[in-house]
Amino acid sequence: MANFTPVDIKKRKGSSRPVTMLTAYDCSFARMIDAAGIDVILVGDSLGMVVLGYDSTVPVTMDEMLHHCRAVSRGVSNALLVGDMPFMSYQVSIEDALFNAARFLKEAGCDAVKLEGGRTMAPVIKRLVTAGIPVMGHVGLTPQTASSLGGFKVQGQDIDQAKAIYEDAMAVADAGAFAVVLECIPSALSSLITSDIDIPTIGIGAGPHCDGQVLVTNDLLGLYEKFTPRFVKKYVNLAPQISEALLSFKKEVEAGDFPSPEESFPGGEEAVQAIREKAEA
Ligand code: KIV
Repeated sequence: MANFTPVDIKKRKGSSRPVTMLTAYDCSFARMIDAAGIDVILVGDSLGMVVLGYDSTVPVTMDEMLHHCRAVSRGVSNALLVGDMPFMSYQVSIEDALFNAARFLKEAGCDAVKLEGGRTMAPVIKRLVTAGIPVMGHVGLTPQTASSLGGFKVQGQDIDQAKAIYEDAMAVADAGAFAVVLECIPSALSSLITSDIDIPTIGIGAGPHCDGQVLVTNDLLGLYEKFTPRFVKKYVNLAPQISEALLSFKKEVEAGDFPSPEESFPGGEEAVQAIREKAEA
Protein backbone atom coordinates (compact mmCIF):
# COMPACT_ATOMS: atom_id res chain seq x y z
CA MET A 1 0.00 0.00 0.00
CA ALA A 2 1.50 3.33 -1.08
CA ASN A 3 1.82 6.32 1.23
CA PHE A 4 0.21 8.42 -1.44
CA THR A 5 -3.54 7.93 -2.00
CA PRO A 6 -6.04 9.01 -4.67
CA VAL A 7 -7.38 11.48 -2.10
CA ASP A 8 -3.92 13.14 -1.92
CA ILE A 9 -3.84 13.40 -5.70
CA LYS A 10 -7.33 14.91 -5.80
CA LYS A 11 -6.28 17.51 -3.21
CA ARG A 12 -3.64 18.77 -5.63
CA LYS A 13 -6.39 20.29 -7.79
CA GLY A 14 -5.77 23.98 -7.82
CA SER A 15 -2.65 23.67 -5.63
CA SER A 16 0.63 25.22 -6.70
CA ARG A 17 2.36 21.81 -6.75
CA PRO A 18 1.74 19.89 -9.99
CA VAL A 19 1.26 16.11 -9.93
CA THR A 20 4.22 14.16 -11.33
CA MET A 21 3.60 10.77 -12.92
CA LEU A 22 5.90 8.34 -14.76
CA THR A 23 5.56 4.83 -16.12
CA ALA A 24 7.43 1.79 -14.80
CA TYR A 25 7.39 -1.81 -15.91
CA ASP A 26 9.83 -3.51 -13.52
CA CYS A 27 11.01 -3.38 -9.92
CA SER A 28 14.40 -1.69 -10.45
CA PHE A 29 12.96 1.27 -12.34
CA ALA A 30 10.07 1.48 -9.88
CA ARG A 31 12.58 1.80 -7.01
CA MET A 32 14.42 4.67 -8.75
CA ILE A 33 11.23 6.49 -9.71
CA ASP A 34 9.82 6.11 -6.20
CA ALA A 35 13.09 7.32 -4.65
CA ALA A 36 12.97 10.39 -6.91
CA GLY A 37 9.72 11.36 -5.16
CA ILE A 38 7.44 10.99 -8.20
CA ASP A 39 3.81 11.10 -7.01
CA VAL A 40 2.23 8.47 -9.26
CA ILE A 41 3.75 5.41 -10.94
CA LEU A 42 1.73 4.05 -13.83
CA VAL A 43 2.24 0.56 -15.16
CA GLY A 44 1.05 1.72 -18.55
CA ASP A 45 -0.06 -0.61 -21.31
CA SER A 46 2.68 1.23 -23.23
CA LEU A 47 4.44 -1.84 -21.79
CA GLY A 48 3.36 -3.54 -25.01
CA MET A 49 5.31 -1.17 -27.22
CA VAL A 50 8.34 -0.15 -25.14
CA VAL A 51 9.08 -3.46 -23.39
CA LEU A 52 7.27 -6.34 -25.10
CA GLY A 53 7.94 -5.30 -28.70
CA TYR A 54 4.35 -5.13 -30.00
CA ASP A 55 3.45 -2.52 -32.63
CA SER A 56 0.61 -1.12 -30.52
CA THR A 57 -0.97 -1.48 -27.07
CA VAL A 58 -3.83 -3.58 -28.46
CA PRO A 59 -2.30 -7.08 -27.95
CA VAL A 60 -1.41 -6.49 -24.27
CA THR A 61 -3.16 -9.02 -22.02
CA MET A 62 -4.38 -8.96 -18.40
CA ASP A 63 -1.76 -11.58 -17.50
CA GLU A 64 1.06 -9.44 -18.93
CA MET A 65 -0.19 -6.35 -17.09
CA LEU A 66 -0.57 -8.16 -13.76
CA HIS A 67 2.87 -9.77 -14.06
CA HIS A 68 4.55 -6.35 -14.55
CA CYS A 69 2.37 -4.63 -11.92
CA ARG A 70 3.49 -7.22 -9.35
CA ALA A 71 7.14 -6.55 -10.20
CA VAL A 72 6.66 -2.78 -9.99
CA SER A 73 4.73 -2.99 -6.72
CA ARG A 74 7.75 -4.66 -5.06
CA GLY A 75 9.75 -1.48 -5.75
CA VAL A 76 7.22 1.13 -4.63
CA SER A 77 6.80 2.44 -1.11
CA ASN A 78 5.58 6.01 -1.51
CA ALA A 79 4.09 6.66 -4.92
CA LEU A 80 0.50 5.86 -5.82
CA LEU A 81 0.59 2.77 -8.06
CA VAL A 82 -1.85 2.77 -10.96
CA GLY A 83 -2.40 -0.23 -13.24
CA ASP A 84 -3.53 0.39 -16.82
CA MET A 85 -6.46 -1.76 -17.89
CA PRO A 86 -5.59 -3.38 -21.25
CA PHE A 87 -7.74 -3.29 -24.38
CA MET A 88 -10.96 -5.35 -24.03
CA SER A 89 -10.51 -5.94 -20.30
CA TYR A 90 -13.22 -3.34 -19.52
CA GLN A 91 -15.24 -2.87 -22.73
CA VAL A 92 -17.07 -6.22 -22.93
CA SER A 93 -19.34 -5.73 -19.91
CA ILE A 94 -19.42 -3.79 -16.66
CA GLU A 95 -19.13 -7.03 -14.66
CA ASP A 96 -16.07 -8.02 -16.68
CA ALA A 97 -14.54 -4.60 -16.05
CA LEU A 98 -15.21 -4.91 -12.30
CA PHE A 99 -13.69 -8.40 -12.17
CA ASN A 100 -10.54 -7.34 -14.09
CA ALA A 101 -10.09 -4.03 -12.22
CA ALA A 102 -10.31 -5.86 -8.89
CA ARG A 103 -7.46 -8.18 -9.97
CA PHE A 104 -5.10 -5.16 -10.23
CA LEU A 105 -5.77 -4.37 -6.55
CA LYS A 106 -6.13 -7.89 -5.12
CA GLU A 107 -3.42 -9.73 -7.08
CA ALA A 108 -0.92 -7.11 -8.24
CA GLY A 109 -0.52 -4.55 -5.45
CA CYS A 110 -2.01 -1.61 -7.36
CA ASP A 111 -3.81 1.24 -5.60
CA ALA A 112 -5.94 2.28 -8.57
CA VAL A 113 -6.64 1.53 -12.23
CA LYS A 114 -6.63 3.68 -15.34
CA LEU A 115 -8.90 3.16 -18.33
CA GLU A 116 -9.35 4.94 -21.65
CA GLY A 117 -12.56 6.59 -22.84
CA GLY A 118 -14.98 9.34 -21.90
CA ARG A 119 -18.78 9.40 -22.01
CA THR A 120 -19.09 5.79 -23.19
CA MET A 121 -16.96 4.59 -20.28
CA ALA A 122 -18.69 6.70 -17.60
CA PRO A 123 -21.01 3.85 -16.44
CA VAL A 124 -17.99 1.54 -16.07
CA ILE A 125 -16.07 4.14 -14.06
CA LYS A 126 -19.12 4.73 -11.84
CA ARG A 127 -19.47 1.01 -11.11
CA LEU A 128 -15.77 0.56 -10.25
CA VAL A 129 -15.72 3.64 -8.02
CA THR A 130 -18.91 2.51 -6.25
CA ALA A 131 -17.23 -0.83 -5.58
CA GLY A 132 -14.26 0.97 -3.99
CA ILE A 133 -11.81 0.88 -6.89
CA PRO A 134 -10.19 4.29 -7.54
CA VAL A 135 -10.17 5.12 -11.25
CA MET A 136 -8.03 7.47 -13.33
CA GLY A 137 -9.61 8.45 -16.66
CA HIS A 138 -7.83 8.99 -19.99
CA VAL A 139 -9.27 11.09 -22.85
CA GLY A 140 -8.05 12.81 -26.02
CA LEU A 141 -5.70 10.51 -27.91
CA THR A 142 -6.54 7.07 -26.54
CA PRO A 143 -3.83 4.70 -27.86
CA GLN A 144 -5.95 1.53 -27.60
CA THR A 145 -8.34 2.98 -30.21
CA ALA A 146 -5.79 5.11 -32.07
CA SER A 147 -6.64 3.59 -35.44
CA SER A 148 -10.28 4.76 -35.16
CA LEU A 149 -8.94 8.23 -34.29
CA GLY A 150 -6.79 8.39 -37.45
CA GLY A 151 -3.55 7.17 -35.86
CA PHE A 152 -1.22 8.62 -33.23
CA LYS A 153 -1.99 12.29 -33.91
CA VAL A 154 -3.21 15.40 -32.10
CA GLN A 155 -6.90 15.25 -31.22
CA GLY A 156 -9.38 18.08 -30.69
CA GLN A 157 -8.16 20.45 -33.35
CA ASP A 158 -11.61 21.03 -34.85
CA ILE A 159 -14.61 22.38 -32.95
CA ASP A 160 -16.65 19.15 -32.87
CA GLN A 161 -13.71 17.04 -31.72
CA ALA A 162 -12.72 19.62 -29.10
CA LYS A 163 -16.29 19.70 -27.73
CA ALA A 164 -16.38 15.90 -27.62
CA ILE A 165 -13.10 15.73 -25.66
CA TYR A 166 -14.32 18.44 -23.27
CA GLU A 167 -17.53 16.47 -22.63
CA ASP A 168 -15.57 13.23 -22.26
CA ALA A 169 -13.38 14.76 -19.56
CA MET A 170 -16.40 16.13 -17.68
CA ALA A 171 -18.19 12.75 -17.91
CA VAL A 172 -15.15 10.97 -16.46
CA ALA A 173 -15.08 13.42 -13.53
CA ASP A 174 -18.86 13.15 -12.96
CA ALA A 175 -18.52 9.36 -12.90
CA GLY A 176 -16.15 9.64 -9.94
CA ALA A 177 -12.63 9.38 -11.38
CA PHE A 178 -10.01 10.95 -9.08
CA ALA A 179 -7.91 12.33 -11.97
CA VAL A 180 -7.88 12.30 -15.76
CA VAL A 181 -5.05 11.97 -18.29
CA LEU A 182 -5.36 14.38 -21.24
CA GLU A 183 -3.29 13.01 -24.12
CA CYS A 184 -2.15 14.86 -27.23
CA ILE A 185 -4.59 17.77 -27.40
CA PRO A 186 -3.96 21.50 -27.99
CA SER A 187 -2.83 23.51 -24.94
CA ALA A 188 -5.83 25.87 -25.18
CA LEU A 189 -8.26 22.95 -24.88
CA SER A 190 -6.44 21.36 -21.94
CA SER A 191 -6.34 24.77 -20.26
CA LEU A 192 -10.12 25.13 -20.58
CA ILE A 193 -10.76 21.58 -19.32
CA THR A 194 -8.34 22.11 -16.42
CA SER A 195 -10.10 25.28 -15.30
CA ASP A 196 -13.63 23.80 -15.61
CA ILE A 197 -13.13 20.29 -14.20
CA ASP A 198 -12.97 19.54 -10.46
CA ILE A 199 -10.36 16.76 -10.60
CA PRO A 200 -6.65 17.06 -11.49
CA THR A 201 -5.79 16.84 -15.18
CA ILE A 202 -2.53 15.07 -15.95
CA GLY A 203 -1.19 16.00 -19.37
CA ILE A 204 0.92 14.16 -21.93
CA GLY A 205 1.27 16.27 -25.04
CA ALA A 206 -1.37 18.59 -23.61
CA GLY A 207 0.71 21.66 -22.80
CA PRO A 208 1.70 23.35 -19.56
CA HIS A 209 -1.72 24.25 -18.11
CA CYS A 210 -2.61 20.83 -16.68
CA ASP A 211 -2.54 20.04 -12.96
CA GLY A 212 0.21 17.50 -13.57
CA GLN A 213 2.39 15.89 -16.23
CA VAL A 214 3.12 12.30 -17.22
CA LEU A 215 5.70 10.81 -19.58
CA VAL A 216 6.67 7.29 -20.58
CA THR A 217 9.93 6.78 -18.64
CA ASN A 218 11.64 4.96 -21.53
CA ASP A 219 10.95 8.03 -23.71
CA LEU A 220 12.38 10.57 -21.26
CA LEU A 221 15.48 8.42 -20.77
CA GLY A 222 16.03 8.00 -24.51
CA LEU A 223 15.56 4.23 -24.33
CA TYR A 224 12.81 3.86 -26.93
CA GLU A 225 14.30 4.63 -30.33
CA LYS A 226 11.51 3.42 -32.62
CA PHE A 227 9.46 6.63 -32.48
CA THR A 228 9.68 9.89 -30.51
CA PRO A 229 6.49 11.98 -30.34
CA ARG A 230 6.86 15.78 -30.45
CA PHE A 231 5.73 16.12 -26.84
CA VAL A 232 8.57 13.97 -25.47
CA LYS A 233 11.55 15.63 -23.85
CA LYS A 234 14.57 13.34 -23.64
CA TYR A 235 16.24 14.29 -20.36
CA VAL A 236 19.07 11.91 -21.23
CA ASN A 237 19.81 9.81 -24.30
CA LEU A 238 20.72 6.44 -22.82
CA ALA A 239 20.32 4.11 -25.82
CA PRO A 240 23.62 5.12 -27.52
CA GLN A 241 25.45 4.98 -24.17
CA ILE A 242 24.08 1.48 -23.54
CA SER A 243 25.13 0.34 -27.04
CA GLU A 244 28.63 1.68 -26.39
CA ALA A 245 28.87 -0.22 -23.08
CA LEU A 246 27.71 -3.45 -24.72
CA LEU A 247 30.31 -3.09 -27.49
CA SER A 248 33.05 -2.45 -24.90
CA PHE A 249 32.10 -5.65 -23.06
CA LYS A 250 32.28 -7.66 -26.31
CA LYS A 251 35.65 -6.13 -27.27
CA GLU A 252 37.20 -6.69 -23.82
CA VAL A 253 36.04 -10.31 -23.57
CA GLU A 254 37.29 -11.07 -27.07
CA ALA A 255 40.63 -9.39 -26.32
CA GLY A 256 41.02 -11.28 -22.99
CA ASP A 257 40.93 -8.00 -21.02
CA PHE A 258 37.81 -8.88 -19.02
CA PRO A 259 37.74 -10.11 -16.33
CA SER A 260 40.97 -8.63 -14.94
CA PRO A 261 42.46 -9.67 -11.54
CA GLU A 262 40.30 -6.97 -9.89
CA GLU A 263 37.14 -8.69 -11.10
CA SER A 264 38.39 -12.20 -10.15
CA PHE A 265 38.60 -14.06 -6.80
CA PRO A 266 42.11 -14.88 -5.50
CA GLY A 267 43.07 -18.05 -3.54
CA GLY A 268 42.01 -21.64 -4.09
CA GLU A 269 45.49 -22.93 -5.09
CA GLU A 270 45.60 -25.50 -2.25
CA ALA A 271 42.23 -26.93 -3.21
CA VAL A 272 43.29 -27.17 -6.84
CA GLN A 273 46.48 -29.00 -5.80
CA ALA A 274 44.45 -31.44 -3.69
CA ILE A 275 42.07 -32.17 -6.57
CA ARG A 276 45.00 -32.77 -8.93
CA GLU A 277 46.70 -35.14 -6.46
CA LYS A 278 43.46 -37.09 -5.97
CA ALA A 279 43.01 -37.38 -9.73
CA GLU A 280 46.58 -38.65 -10.17
CA ALA A 281 46.38 -41.21 -7.31
O1 KIV B 1 0.22 3.43 -21.29
C1 KIV B 1 0.74 4.50 -20.91
O2 KIV B 1 1.95 4.59 -20.68
C2 KIV B 1 -0.13 5.65 -20.77
C3 KIV B 1 0.51 6.97 -20.54
C4 KIV B 1 1.04 7.46 -21.82
C5 KIV B 1 -0.41 7.94 -19.92
O3 KIV B 1 -1.31 5.52 -20.86
